[in-house]
Order: sequence, then C-alpha cells, then structure tokens
Amino acid sequence: MTDMGNAGVFITFEGIDGAGKSTHMEVLADHLRRGGRTVTVTREPGGTQLAEKVRSLVLNEPMDVLTEALLVFAARRDHLGQVLEPALQRGEVVLCDRFTDSSYAYQGAGLGLDQGVLETLERWTQTVAGPSGSALRQPDLTLWFDLPAEMAARRRAQARAADRFEQEDLDFFERVRAAYQARMIAAPQRFVHIDAGCDRTAVWQQIDSALEARAW
Ligand code: TYD
Repeated sequence: MTDMGNAGVFITFEGIDGAGKSTHMEVLADHLRRGGRTVTVTREPGGTQLAEKVRSLVLNEPMDVLTEALLVFAARRDHLGQVLEPALQRGEVVLCDRFTDSSYAYQGAGLGLDQGVLETLERWTQTVAGPSGSALRQPDLTLWFDLPAEMAARRRAQARAADRFEQEDLDFFERVRAAYQARMIAAPQRFVHIDAGCDRTAVWQQIDSALEARAW
C-alpha cells in the first residue's frame, strides 16, 4: 500500500451468486462510518456510468468468454481510474462487490478462459503509477463468502430472477467455488474465508474479527 502513496484501504467481497455478500457490505459500510471512516461502496462490473453500461451487456447479452473478459476488464479500467484510485488516494475505505478474483473464478474456472490471458489483462488493467514507480493494484483484503453451490442456488431461487451467470448449473458454481479456494491458498495474507452458510449474526462476527485482526 505505501508503495502507492496512500492510506486508503481496498476491501473486496467475493463468492458465488447467492452467498449474501451484498447485504454484509452495507452492514460493514455502516459500521466503518460509525467508526469515523469515509467509505466508498461500489461494485464490478460497474461503478461508473460507462462500466454500468458494460455490466448490463455482460449480464444480459450472449457472447464468447474472451469478449466477456475484455468487457469486464475494460469496465474495471474505467472504474479504477474514475472511482477506486481517487478514493484510495483520498484515504478512504473502498468496499467493492467483486473484483478480479471474480474474473479468474467465472471467466477462468467457470467458463474455461486461459489463465495466462487473465493474467495479462490484469497486468494491463491494474498497473497504476505510484511515487516509487508503477505497481499492480490489488485489494488489501478479500472477504470470500463461501457456501456450497446447492445452498446458494436455493437462496437465489427465493430471492430474484436469474441473470446469465445465475442460470449456470451446480457444476459451474462448484468450479467457481474451487477457484476461490485456490486463489485463497495462493494469497493467504489477502484472503479471509467467511462461512456464509451460517446466520447473519454469525457471518457478521467473522467479518468483524477479520477487520479487528488488521490495524486499520
Ligand atoms: P453480483 O455482483 O453478485 O450481482 P447481483 O448480486 O446483483 O446478482 O454479480 C454479477 C455477476 O457478474 C456475477 O454473476 C459474476 C459476474 N462477474 C464475472 O463473471 N466476472 C467478473 O470479473 C465480475 C466482476 C463479475
């Protein structure tokens, strides 16, 4: 973080659809604001006018997976430049509903896009200038809301109409889930595993202790 010359904190929320991360983002935002922090709450794909337009294309129009990845990263580039970097430079806490781990999990593991392509797009998109040269912007903390694909599907069925991704089958979501697991193992200092299968209070306690463990 100091590399990029700011005191902001970048927290991402990840997990398969139906894991309940959006609800807890709002709870965490309120909690941090009560503690005196300025909080920006945003999402991907989306977060800017342009990126929200891209979101509606990606979620609703059929396309091949490379097209999808290019669009998601184009949206991410706009979002980083317009919203994420400025907020971090101002020293805010940024809570982002999904980020690049979703691209590895959905376009990569879920839909079979080559990992090397994703790594290249990530490098192109997330390299930002800082006082000591350029660096790759990554979240400071990623809360992974984990639950079995079947339980998530039951929750989704009660909650809303399915978008393109939500119509995928259980195998797809188990691949996505396994990809999150692999990414957590590869970056254990960044990830915190949240057992999203328990009730709201118990989920909140896990988030609270993840934050407590960090001296922000
Ligand atoms: P989500 O933000 O969970 O939306 P909602 O809760 O409103 O349904 O989901 C957006 C969808 O976008 C989700 O199915 C995963 C997908 N997605 C990707 O496939 N790749 C990405 O890089 C990102 C950020 C999202």
